[in-house]
Amino acid sequence: MYVANEKRYENMTYRRSGKSGLLLPAISLGLWHNFGDTGVYSNMEDMCFTAFDNGITHFDLANNYGPEAGSAEKNFGRIVKENFMPYRDEMIISTKAGYFMWDGPYGDWGSRKYLIASIDQSLKRMGLDYVDIFYHHRMDPNTPLEETMGALAQIVNSGKALYAGLSNYDGETLRKATGILARLNVPFVINQNRYSMLDRTIEHNGLKETAKELGKGIICFSPLAQGLLSGKYLEGIPEDSRVRTDGRFLNESKLTTETLDKVRKLDAIAKKRGQSLPEMALAWLLNQEEITSVLIGASRPSQIIADIKALENTAFTEEELKEIDSI
Ligand SMILES: NC(=O)c1ccc[n+]([C@@H]2O[C@H](COP(=O)([O-])OP(=O)(O)OC[C@H]3O[C@@H](n4cnc5c(N)ncnc54)[C@H](OP(=O)(O)O)[C@@H]3O)[C@@H](O)[C@H]2O)c1
Repeated sequence: MYVANEKRYENMTYRRSGKSGLLLPAISLGLWHNFGDTGVYSNMEDMCFTAFDNGITHFDLANNYGPEAGSAEKNFGRIVKENFMPYRDEMIISTKAGYFMWDGPYGDWGSRKYLIASIDQSLKRMGLDYVDIFYHHRMDPNTPLEETMGALAQIVNSGKALYAGLSNYDGETLRKATGILARLNVPFVINQNRYSMLDRTIEHNGLKETAKELGKGIICFSPLAQGLLSGKYLEGIPEDSRVRTDGRFLNESKLTTETLDKVRKLDAIAKKRGQSLPEMALAWLLNQEEITSVLIGASRPSQIIADIKALENTAFTEEELKEIDSI
């Protein structure tokens, strides 16, 4: 039986999600990859133990994480049941619905029918009474925002989630959604968006500035650009890397000379700072006050330990920031 490290809260820092009461660890663990049925269960367990033992209280899932879709929730549920039930109140567990999950018209996008059915399925797969955060996973151009937000309100009001979140929204839609959720008295506290030194979308689509203005948190996914910002692809493609083990989302076509050149230049800055490249990539995000948490993925426990080292230096000089921006 797992017993958590008594010193687990000594080195992690916790940051407030916008102006809400929710504190999240500076580094959170996502279960998008390596927790499906093609993964190794003992490795999944070890990664969760390593994370929690080091103060990572937040575990992020979605209905469709796998493969196959749903299996990450099922495997995580087993890990929680066998090990983490005594610690449930020390954990923030999130899930989402918004991408394709099941056949027919009710298993995708943002209808009330989809979201409410999906949270019930997720809770069942994980064996939980509630999740801490339930997200709408992506904007739906064809469903009225009032309907999707109303479904989030019902999910929170029925006790199936404590907080609501929005993922992959832009600034303008975030503003509209925030107004609706406020009228419905929904504790909407966080945005989940892709953000890294290599992907600046939220700086250009209004999300970052609007979230700040409205007092909402931001948790950044793929902060290492799925491993590109670890520097591991600079000298070829390692056999045990995501490109080789699961090429669905990161494949060789993304490893262009231009991107690798940027990574090489960023690596040189990291070296000058006395940090590894993944440490600098995470520190660069945490240097920004708008950012609540960086949501890493991992294929083995040692990566989690390595990534936490980013917390040792999150300060940047103006010159370093300018150089990174120019790259
Ligand atoms: N809301 C959304 O739409 C959405 C979309 C995507 C992701 N997410 C969330 O964000 C989480 C993280 O996404 P991500 O996995 O793309 O994040 P990431 O942190 O950018 O990439 C994680 C991958 O990088 C490699 N890595 C991590 N640390 C390393 C280190 N120290 N040294 C070398 N390699 C290292 C590992 O890949 P390998 O070892 O396999 O090469 C690891 O699986 C997901 O699990 C999910 O919860 C949300």
